[in-house]
Amino acid sequence: MNLEAVQTAIEGRKWMNLPMAQKAAGWIIPLGNRRILELGHMHGASTCYFAAMAQDLCGHVTTCDLPAAATMTPNLEDGLAKCGLADLVTIHRDPEGAEWRMMQMIDAGAEFDFIYIDAGHSVKCCGLMFFLAERLLRPGGMILFDDIHWSYRKGGMADVPWVRRLTEAEQTTEQVGWVWRTLVQKHPGFEYFQEDGNWGWCWKRHTELEQPAMMLTGPTEDEMQIYLDGRLPQEAQEPPKQGP
Ligand SMILES: C[S@@+](CC[C@H](N)C(=O)[O-])C[C@H]1O[C@@H](n2cnc3c(N)ncnc32)[C@H](O)[C@@H]1O
Repeated sequence: MNLEAVQTAIEGRKWMNLPMAQKAAGWIIPLGNRRILELGHMHGASTCYFAAMAQDLCGHVTTCDLPAAATMTPNLEDGLAKCGLADLVTIHRDPEGAEWRMMQMIDAGAEFDFIYIDAGHSVKCCGLMFFLAERLLRPGGMILFDDIHWSYRKGGMADVPWVRRLTEAEQTTEQVGWVWRTLVQKHPGFEYFQEDGNWGWCWKRHTELEQPAMMLTGPTEDEMQIYLDGRLPQEAQEPPKQGP
């Protein structure tokens, strides 16, 4: 099923739209990323588009949300039925959140080629999902973050009761953006960081990280002598600077 046909079938439901799906397909299809994990499906728009991509690649989509997503109108099942793509999607809705399901997947040795992170938009949720996703992604696989420039305030959620209970900082900080800039782009196991509007793409490195030789062989005689002589570098003799 092509992406235009998906758009027609799901009648413009929130959130992913056709141009976004086409951009995603531009990376997913040529790279053959057929094992797709989606975190956060809500009404299932993105899931239906990913399922159409998986169909082209003889692949599969695993998607996670909270139990409340089942009762949404429209819901994911309805969208997949309209597209005729239900067989290509495994749905998980855990009360503990997708993080718990990801833990189970890690323990079971699951592996994915592409992971879409579009679930909870707090540092706590998104940050943990990133580290769990790293465990589930094959070397060379991709992660796509949605909403890197989004905050609860900018997203028009200021009047939602549970958002009102958050602090000013939590409401106004671009929390996914913080994860993207600070945890993802500085992670030594990832490379090729690309921003495209509200999206952030990154790739898990193909190769093993280079270990400092000392970690593999132990210190050389010279390095040991520095220790025995008490010849510490200047900065190691000063007290560490205090942070905030
Ligand atoms: C922005 S919506 C997803 C939109 C969807 N990806 C699309 O583009 O059509 C975010 C979804 O994440 C879900 N969510 C929030 N926290 C979650 C968690 N810890 N685990 C799983 N899903 C979560 C919400 O229930 C919501 O349905």
